Amino acid sequence: MSKLNECVQRIEEIKVAFHEDTANASLNSRAVEELKVKYLGRKGLVTALMETLKEVSKEDKPAAGKIINELRKGIEEKLETLRAAAEEGALDESLAAQRLDVTLPVAAMQSKGSLHPVTLMRRIILDAFRSLGFTVYDGPEIDLDFYNFGALNFKDDHPARDMQDTFFIGDRSKTILRTHTSNIQIHAMMHERPPLRVVAPGRTYRCDSDITHTPMFHQVEGFIVDENIDMGDMKGVIDQLLKAVFGQDLSTRLRPSFFPFVEPGAEFDLQCVSCRGKGCRICKNTGWLELGGLGMIHPNVFEAVGYDSEIYTGFAFGFGLDRIAMLRYGLSDLRQLFEGNQQFLGQFPTHP
Ligand code: PHE
Repeated sequence: MSKLNECVQRIEEIKVAFHEDTANASLNSRAVEELKVKYLGRKGLVTALMETLKEVSKEDKPAAGKIINELRKGIEEKLETLRAAAEEGALDESLAAQRLDVTLPVAAMQSKGSLHPVTLMRRIILDAFRSLGFTVYDGPEIDLDFYNFGALNFKDDHPARDMQDTFFIGDRSKTILRTHTSNIQIHAMMHERPPLRVVAPGRTYRCDSDITHTPMFHQVEGFIVDENIDMGDMKGVIDQLLKAVFGQDLSTRLRPSFFPFVEPGAEFDLQCVSCRGKGCRICKNTGWLELGGLGMIHPNVFEAVGYDSEIYTGFAFGFGLDRIAMLRYGLSDLRQLFEGNQQFLGQFPTHP
């Protein structure tokens, strides 16, 4: 066989191979690129043909060169068409995947929002107080020393005024972030005349942070001022409140304690909600849970707001809302309440 015939035969083989390689209509861009390397690349089949051309006789060379060039051109054109088609296909595919049918009806909501445990607890507690005839009051979180301390009978050197506990704003002595909701006692008493039954929830701030303390936390304050109010009234209100929150009869106890704005003062404990007083991990084996402080309003407080302490008596109490929420919902770490974790918060109901 002449070299020319050999060359022609090789060309036919390449054509058949190329035909087979491109028979699959939907080649993607990468497959097209690979074919380009296989046929036209530096070590490609068509390039190799050019080597064969050297051996073809001089007179046959132009004819052989021509058919090789035609083959190369044919392959180039076909690959270019395939490349364009592949690109268009990819575009169509991604457009189809991203297609947004704005006329489709909205899918039913998978999840509804829920209430934060502190919000739930606040609503339950305020409802309980409203049913006992209390009015809900609000007061400033940024306040003057006078309302947070001075009028509440804190002496100038009381340790609670110390830098370690109180966040001062600007001038060290005047403006602070309230350290408790008891400032609302003063605001409310200065605005109203007795008889008064007030409950006041709010954020409070102390320079303190560990597993059981956060620099911002929530308290609920409550107080009554009227003629002939005594400690029995106070115990009755506290018992009612706890029954509303925990839905069961649990005992409470008072332990004498000191707060400058009450006399006598006490801390109140609740029988452990978990072991009912037997002793467990939650109550640290004491059978009791500390909830807050209370007492009969000090005559000096009445004097500061212009009430006659010969006529009026009253009691006040304050407790941590976050702590009650933790006990009520069985939470182990106070900080969970402030991290805003959607998975954690989503477990709580949408209403009390
Ligand atoms: N304000 C006190 C505290 O934050 C609690 C308290 C309120 C005590 C009312 C007695 C009466 O610790």
